[in-house]
Amino acid sequence: MRKVLKWIGIGLGSLIVLLLIAGFTMYLIGGSKLNQTYAVHTADLVIPTDSASLVRGAHLARINGCTDCHGPDLSGQVFVDAPPFRVVAANLTAGAGGIGRTYTAEDWDRTIRHGVKPDGKPVFIMPSAAFHRLSDEDTAALIAYLQQVPAVDHDLPPTEIRTPGRLMAAGPLDVAMEVRTEPARSSRPPIGPTADYGEYLASGVCAYCHGEGLLGAQPATPGSPPAPSLVAAGQWSLDEFTTTLRTGTTPGGRTLDPEFMPVAFTSQYDSTEYRALHAYLETLQGGIQTASDS
Ligand code: HEC
Ligand code: HEC
Repeated sequence: MRKVLKWIGIGLGSLIVLLLIAGFTMYLIGGSKLNQTYAVHTADLVIPTDSASLVRGAHLARINGCTDCHGPDLSGQVFVDAPPFRVVAANLTAGAGGIGRTYTAEDWDRTIRHGVKPDGKPVFIMPSAAFHRLSDEDTAALIAYLQQVPAVDHDLPPTEIRTPGRLMAAGPLDVAMEVRTEPARSSRPPIGPTADYGEYLASGVCAYCHGEGLLGAQPATPGSPPAPSLVAAGQWSLDEFTTTLRTGTTPGGRTLDPEFMPVAFTSQYDSTEYRALHAYLETLQGGIQTASDS
């Protein structure tokens, strides 16, 4: 009996040692992934100063959700505070605690379109992979606007990855998910109610969740329902489509979950853009037609 217990003891002991070694290895791997830095090809942007560009920049900040996640005055907020990490959407203004005080045009471009912060490390949650499709001209207008938003003093704690997050980074959590090192898009089609301009808008923000060609995908956000194929929505009338994006209620009367389908951004397009998006969706074909409630 004693002998058996002794062997069980040795067995358990070695298991614990193995687990400790595995845990420590994961801790090291996670740490090295989190500390990896990325070099990106930013563009030589000429930042405009004319009022039309500033108006365009402000509009881009709304349709791309900058004002949703970073707050209406862009002064930032704690986005997630959970055991694995605290992720803080920075104060973007030039007020106290704001990154606008130090950011250069190149820093803005690197973070927004490439997902890499000035220290070379990846952003978390910030959907830069969607913004990689913004053209040079639009990015320059957005930066022009960001550089002159009123300064707001708002000190926030830094983003922090804690031990469980570090262990997750060694495994399931892809810390470089938003990083795009290759050059971003240089030009875009002219603004108008065309399928081309609709494709430009949709290939960034909408495709980020609804997948390549908008044929449906599983968004990365934990707990999100699948983002369905938008082939069916392309068959709705323009009015039905616009109302859905503005209010989050489909022609069939279903309310889309605003936590996962960001009506806060999709309600901000103008009528030309709804027509452009609709015109583009009308051209979609094939893919798996998901059960439509229209
Ligand atoms: C879904 C929410 C979300 C949206 C939309 C979003 N951001 Fe962010 N942003 C974040 C979060 C969260 C962080 C913090 C990331 C980190 O610390 O790793 C962040 C970080 C940043 C940073 C880096 C700050 C630093 O620490 O150096 C900049 C710059 C930035 N965002 C600008 C923008 C702009 C401009 C837009 C619109 C084009 C935008 N963000 C849209 C959530 C968002
Ligand atoms: C952050 C992820 C995300 C982004 C970005 C996003 N969607 Fe969605 N969308 C979803 C999810 C998830 C659903 C399903 C929501 C539900 O079932 O409650 C959805 C549902 C929809 C529906 C309803 C489809 C149907 O057949 O019922 C439409 C239409 C739609 N999205 C259009 C768009 C368009 C157009 C854009 C870009 C302007 C966009 N979405 C951007 C996640 C997203």
